[in-house]
Amino acid sequence: MRTIGVFDSGVGGISVLKEILKEFPNDNIIYFGDSLHAPYGDRSIDEIRKLCLKVSDFLVFNKKVDALVIACNTATGAAINIMQDRYDIPVVGVVDNGVKEATNTTTNNFIGVIATPATVKMNIYPDTIFKLAPKNNVFQVECPSFVAMIEDGWVDSIESNNLIKSYLDKFPENIDTLILGCTHYPLITKYITRYFSGKIVNPAKETSKSLKTLIGEMNFKINPSRVFFVSGELKKFKKVAEEFLEQPIEDIRKIIL
Ligand code: DGL
Repeated sequence: MRTIGVFDSGVGGISVLKEILKEFPNDNIIYFGDSLHAPYGDRSIDEIRKLCLKVSDFLVFNKKVDALVIACNTATGAAINIMQDRYDIPVVGVVDNGVKEATNTTTNNFIGVIATPATVKMNIYPDTIFKLAPKNNVFQVECPSFVAMIEDGWVDSIESNNLIKSYLDKFPENIDTLILGCTHYPLITKYITRYFSGKIVNPAKETSKSLKTLIGEMNFKINPSRVFFVSGELKKFKKVAEEFLEQPIEDIRKIIL
């Protein structure tokens, strides 16, 4: 029996979980959505780090997960190095994986990144891209408000469309690849594509593949469990998460660490 822990500041990590469930259908999963403290991306790096470690300690020490997926770019930027040092289990984040896919996808080497204010401030995407493929040009735009709007259940209104457009208008026109540098954003891909016609990179699939390279496949588990711990409002989380996952969430528990 094996358990994979997946966590995010809220419902965004569901975009990663969706791919994890495809690659690991036979593993137990524990998902943690720290929605009481979302958005992480508006907080200081120090604050984000403390919140992340509370959640990851709970998953690793209390729930004894066998692998940890940081399904949050902001948390990956703030805490992946600390977590990899702190725990004796595989820990994967989303940023390297998004970068891998984007640098393989771009044909003109102009990459755009939309992310939370904290992720942009940490500069983790440009740094990682330049390390892997220095010939690229990287432009980042922070998108405050997106996370809160997605947590609340995105409303397809004139205002929300104008907001997407206003963020994307900040990029130079020759960006051919756009990284969704926040795991919440894949939940609104269909609205983003109204204003961006290039290639869109959601790091989730690559993240799940890289976890598979690390821990391999489990063939023998029957009826694996899927447990969701949420620190904020359960009803709201369940509704948004089920809609994106396209499957019901049965075992959901409120917890405040
Ligand atoms: N989903 C998260 C990310 O990928 C964090 C969003 C937030 O809480 O600000 O960055």
